[in-house]
This record gives sequence, structure tokens and C-alpha cells, in this order.
Amino acid sequence: MSTQSSPNLRVLSGMRPTGRLHLGHYHGVLKNWVDMQMNHDCFFFVADWHALTTHYETPEGIAANVTEMAIDWLASGLNPASATIFVQSMVPEHAELHLLLSMMTPLSWLERVPTYKDQQDKLRERDLATYGFLGYPLLQSADILMYKADLVPVGEDQVAHIEITREIARRFNHLYGREPDFEARAEQAAGKMGKKTARLYRELRRQYQEQGDAEALEKARALLAEQQNISIGDRERLFGYLDGSGKVILPEPRAALTRASRMPGLDGQKMSKSYGNTIPLRDSPEEVERKIRTMPTDPARVRRNDPGNPDNCPVWQFHQIYSTEEVQQWASDGCRRAGIGCIDCKRPVIEAVQAELRPIQERAAELEADPGKVRAILKQGSEAARQVARATLDDVLEAMCFTHHR
Ligand code: TRP
Ligand code: SF4
Repeated sequence: MSTQSSPNLRVLSGMRPTGRLHLGHYHGVLKNWVDMQMNHDCFFFVADWHALTTHYETPEGIAANVTEMAIDWLASGLNPASATIFVQSMVPEHAELHLLLSMMTPLSWLERVPTYKDQQDKLRERDLATYGFLGYPLLQSADILMYKADLVPVGEDQVAHIEITREIARRFNHLYGREPDFEARAEQAAGKMGKKTARLYRELRRQYQEQGDAEALEKARALLAEQQNISIGDRERLFGYLDGSGKVILPEPRAALTRASRMPGLDGQKMSKSYGNTIPLRDSPEEVERKIRTMPTDPARVRRNDPGNPDNCPVWQFHQIYSTEEVQQWASDGCRRAGIGCIDCKRPVIEAVQAELRPIQERAAELEADPGKVRAILKQGSEAARQVARATLDDVLEAMCFTHHR
């Protein structure tokens, strides 16, 4: 894929607004997003319409959950100066693209997405035999294709959704092909790079196309990757013009698999709200202490003198995330020899979690005190996202011959 030679890969990911986030989200997703925003062109959004696919009967909680989740994102280090942070429903272009894509999406593709049946089984108390729920993965495809994302960081459970997104992109490109006046537009785009660069680009293209000079192709691609002043659309045109592939209207994204969070819940299972075993990012230090002090430990340690086995203890899993080698050694030896009590063993874990949460909570408190600021960040981010979305939608409308309303 031509865009991969670009130093600035486009990254897009979203989360349904479930309210306040916990340490599982932080270790599993947010830290990864925060790292990515440094060296990628990142778009992160709150998928509030996706929340409606399962909670259409109780929409009144969604708005507050959007704000609460955004506060936790920002408090965890997502930075509106480094990433575009927005809300799905504030970029209504997603709905239009979803509609257009729905026209060419075979029902069977949606019906066979594993999450469709799985979630219906899991959420039996809700009626999910709806049009919107069936379309969940297609709405997600629209989210992704809208930004021509190269990489979509997601967990294992979302891989099938990225796969269908790739299939939709392929089908779209196959049906609606390349731009009508592609050559003329590519020539025009070349002109926008400046005379000298344009001449070099044309020369390298000629060398590749006439003599199959692979080195010239590489050089030309590197040249394009360096260009700061051309739009994504023009850049793609120029890539496609080089190797004769034309301009792909909706490039296929790749999943960037986030490895399963190492962060276990208080009971050693996966940390999840539905298991009631979470440490929310905004739990007070006292609450953190209380929760960890009452965590279950190796059941073999009934009395202080009973030796234990850390492998049977969720506290040990916390040590593996939070403690230095030295402290781990101390805990493990002390446990096996009954040299320390479980409360002793938990002390450094309590302190480490509290220390990790302290700066997050300080930032969250500032944002809670200034709700206008959060709203403004989401509004600005959504406006910026809209510009990109508009450009893609215009390309799509044109490819589908929907130009009569302009
Ligand atoms: N379905 C995703 C989840 O439940 C959320 C989501 C919606 C998303 N649109 C997306 C993730 C686009 C990545 C890209 O986690
Ligand atoms: Fe768990 Fe530590 Fe108690 Fe051993 S000493 S059972 S590792 S809490």
C-alpha cells in the first residue's frame, strides 16, 4: 500500500462511551493511544452512535458518558494538540457514508460477523434484532474508511470488524473504480509540489514506467512522502499515478492488534465492569487502599504462618505490573516462606497504584471543574475531523455519480 511509505501513518480508533474508565482501559488501550499520538497522525473518537445500537431504550445516559470518558482520555494523557479527539455524532458525515456503503453491502456479510450472534446471545435481556445492530460493523467501517486510516489499534474482539471494513473497501473500489479524470488530476497535483519537485517526480515516473526502474519508483515514493504541502487526496493520486494503479478511493486499513491487557481485575479475572472487579481511574486513594486490602489472596494462606504460592494469588499479578525485581523477589520469597503477611505484601502495590493514579486524578479534577473546556476540546476536534470527513465524502459521492446536489 503506497501510503505506508509515508512517515505519518494515519491511525484511527474509537471507544463506545461506557462512562468512567478503569485501570484495565488504561493499561490495555489508553497508554497505547498516548504513545501513538507522538509519532502518528491520530484520530480518536467517542462512538456514541454505536452505544445507541445496544442502548436505544435508555439513551439518557449516553451524553454524560461521553463527557466522563473524554475526561478520562484527557486525564490519561491524550492531547488535543497531538491527536484529533472527537465525537462520532458531531461528524454527521459518518451517517451519510454509512448510508451510501449500506447500498452495496451484502446482508450475508453482516450476518456472519461473529459479534452479531455472540452479542445477541450475551445481551439476551435486550432486543437486538434491529436494523441498527446488524449494521454495527458497517457503521464502524464508515468510521474507519472516512479517515483513510492506515492503522486501527483494536483488541482481538474487533478484528472481524476490521476484516469486513477491508472487504467493504475492496468492493467499493471495485464497483466505483478510479476517479473519472484521474490523469488530469494527477498532473495537476504534481504541479502543486513546486516546479523542481514536479520535474523530478515526472522524470522518476518516466524511468519507472518506461524502463521498470525499481529504484526510481522508490525514490519517487520517498519524494512524495516528504511533501508537506499536498493534501492526502493529492498524495494518493500521485502514488497511484506512479505505478499505474490509479487512485484508490477508500484504502484498506490494517488492524494494529493491541495485546490483551496484562492488567487483571481485583479477583484475578479480566478487569471488567460486568465482573465488579475494577479500579476506576478516579477512585480516591482511600478507595484504592480499601479495594486492594480486601483483595482475595492464595486461599492456602489461611493463617499468617501458612506458606503460600504467588501463582495462586491475584496480588502477585499486580506485583508483576507494578513492582521492581527487588520488591517482587521480596514478595515472592516472603509468601513462600510465610515471612510476610498478605497485608505487608499488598502495601507496595497499594502505593504504586495510588502513585500511578495521582497525576491522572489531578488532571481529571481540573477538567471536572471546567466542563466548558472539555466541551470545547470535543467541539474543536470534531470540526477538524469534519474537514477530513468532508473531503472523503466528496470523493465518494463523486465516484458514485452523486454530484447533482452540488
Ligand atoms: N466497536 C468498537 C468497540 O466496541 C468501537 C468502535 C467504533 C471503533 N468505531 C470504531 C474502534 C472504529 C475502532 C475503529 O470497541
Ligand atoms: Fe498473595 Fe502476597 Fe499473600 Fe502471597 S503474600 S498470598 S503473593 S498477597
